[in-house]
Amino acid sequence: MAHSALLNVMIKAARLAGRTLKRDFGEVEQLQVSMKGPANFVTASDKRAEEILRQELAKARPGYGFLGEEGGRIQGSDSTHLWIVDPLDGTTNFLHGIPQFAISIALEREGTIVAGLIYNPANDEMFLAERGKGAFLNDKRLRVAARRRLMDSIVACGLPHYGRGDLALGARELAAVQPVVAGLRRFGSAALDLAWTAAGRYDGYWERALSPWDMAAGILMVREAGGFVTDLDAKDTMLTSGDIIAGNEIIHRELLQILRKAAQG
Ligand code: IPD
Ligand code: CA
Ligand code: CA
Repeated sequence: MAHSALLNVMIKAARLAGRTLKRDFGEVEQLQVSMKGPANFVTASDKRAEEILRQELAKARPGYGFLGEEGGRIQGSDSTHLWIVDPLDGTTNFLHGIPQFAISIALEREGTIVAGLIYNPANDEMFLAERGKGAFLNDKRLRVAARRRLMDSIVACGLPHYGRGDLALGARELAAVQPVVAGLRRFGSAALDLAWTAAGRYDGYWERALSPWDMAAGILMVREAGGFVTDLDAKDTMLTSGDIIAGNEIIHRELLQILRKAAQG
């Protein structure tokens, strides 16, 4: 399938960084049994991947700004374009040898996300989306799932954990959603959770306290697959609020209602 010049730039950068992540992931699997564990190794791998992405994207589009999880924001001479990049989403999975992690690249033009890529080097699944042109997985067009009832739906989420997030609120949300769905999943990569929602594998997804690089590409992916995405205030301000709910129109609406009620206590 022929891609636009823009997507080709993103694909090339992701494949290059993906190659080193995949090699490092092989090492990490070996390090599981060592006393020291792979933590420092993973931090270095994460930084290396971001540097590759930054360099490759800058080579092809000099002047664009760059916002990466590891290196922060680098202002470009072209203030209308910004790359939003997570070089390794699903770090905890990566660290534990679980092959559910991804590179996420989004391009924002004048405040609107116009292209997104989410790539899992472990299984070579490459999710792509361009504004107005649809979402694809390895060249297959994506549609969100059509299920109309939560009771038939698999819903993914992010959960607060040791040292992170509002545990009491997370528990209230779980207590509200768990009894009304066919199954809950917490797989540990927000970018892939959104890509999988776009692909119809998950019927819905919600999470709180995310960063822009976790979701920028995934938001476009779900919308280009025909889905709905807002934050928990039903607004289009996910990148600033950090909250997100995604799904088809019906599942999105129902989840939103349930979660808002749970938040009120
Ligand atoms: C994390 C993952 C995870 C989500 C966390 C994120 P990281 O990103 O997306 O699924 O629950 O909130 O921080 O740290 O692995 O890049
Ligand atoms: Ca992340
Ligand atoms: Ca990360």
